[in-house]
Amino acid sequence: MPKISFAKPGRAAFDAAPGTNLMQALLDHDVPVASSCHGDGVCAKCRIEVSQGLESLGARNETEEFLAERFSLKKNVRISCQVRLGDQDLTVDTTYW
Ligand code: FES
Repeated sequence: MPKISFAKPGRAAFDAAPGTNLMQALLDHDVPVASSCHGDGVCAKCRIEVSQGLESLGARNETEEFLAERFSLKKNVRISCQVRLGDQDLTVDTTYW
């Protein structure tokens, strides 16, 4: 089961089942995730920087690809409402954590 850890200190890592939506996994563990579209893939505010485990997340879907291009996101910045966990540990960060 992949472990989600945080690049900055102060938050406890947690385990989440492969296939779980990344944004939902964070919210389920009381980690705030910015959003104004509530996971509909419109706002791109839920972007998360992935510093470890990026390869386990798979390719961006069409919605995420569109947002990544529109907002000029780096490859390791993922739209968390569009991402499902793979089977490897992740280390994540945002500007507001
Ligand atoms: S919550 Fe709006 S794009 Fe993810």
